[in-house]
Amino acid sequence: MSEGSAGGKLILSGEHAVVYGYPAIAIGLDLTTTVRLEERSGPTAVLTSPRDPRLLEAVRAALPATGLAVRVQSDLPIGCGMGSSAALSVALVRAHAAREGRRLSADEEYEASMALERVFHGTPSGLDNTVAAHGGAIRFLRGNPPSLVHLEPPRWPLVVLESGTAGDTAALVAGVRARHPGNRTTLEAIGVLTRSIEQVLSEPTELGPLLTENHRRLVELGVSTPVLDALVELALDHGALGAKLSGAGGGGVVIALCPEPQQLLDAAEKHGIRAHLVHTGGRP
Ligand code: PMV
Repeated sequence: MSEGSAGGKLILSGEHAVVYGYPAIAIGLDLTTTVRLEERSGPTAVLTSPRDPRLLEAVRAALPATGLAVRVQSDLPIGCGMGSSAALSVALVRAHAAREGRRLSADEEYEASMALERVFHGTPSGLDNTVAAHGGAIRFLRGNPPSLVHLEPPRWPLVVLESGTAGDTAALVAGVRARHPGNRTTLEAIGVLTRSIEQVLSEPTELGPLLTENHRRLVELGVSTPVLDALVELALDHGALGAKLSGAGGGGVVIALCPEPQQLLDAAEKHGIRAHLVHTGGRP
């Protein structure tokens, strides 16, 4: 049997503004996806029920057409902006390389997983699979090729609260574009916030209020929803130092910086909200 796994990601700051040339910061998570491959006769088959219908297509693109049984196990919710497809792509690439006794460089993993990410997203920015492959924290600037700076990965607990619906990234990005340039000041303010956030990554008491300010700016941008705003308030009322939506918005998740997470986890359970306790920094 051979196996590969990779972690998910969250955008800590800079979503939407990154489309306009401002930096974004993404962090790797310790929620992972694992792919296990076993030899079998006949066509390659996925034995676990695919939670994502595009899994079969990605398997076809990543693995030989015959001779393998594929099992996928994932802690990552799908379609929430937590990088589940990128984690799957990198895990598939790693499992395949392990089967062949090869050890890939980070660049090779990136290239191979990027090809699979195209199956999922058409034109991915490359941010998700970079974080899935490297873990840690990354400052990302769009471009061709994108500019990536590895930041010292902070290690603190974050509570991720699921809104229960998935946002439509393409539609949300188009909405922000339709309101441009009226929203330019807000996008600039998010750019400034992201730079400040980078300076205080390992200082939760300073970081928290900047995250909440970032959420307020995303509200101004028109990408939040009443549910996401309520989740931010719930977090702030239950011990979070700061909270914001993460990813494109319109649904997806809220992240809350919570050095003492239990109070918020209990409140989420009481309200029937799915919550995950994650540790930033992801896989080493
Ligand atoms: O929903 P996610 O995590 O894929 O994030 C989208 C981030 C945006 O800035 C809104 C879009 C983009 O392509 O950068």
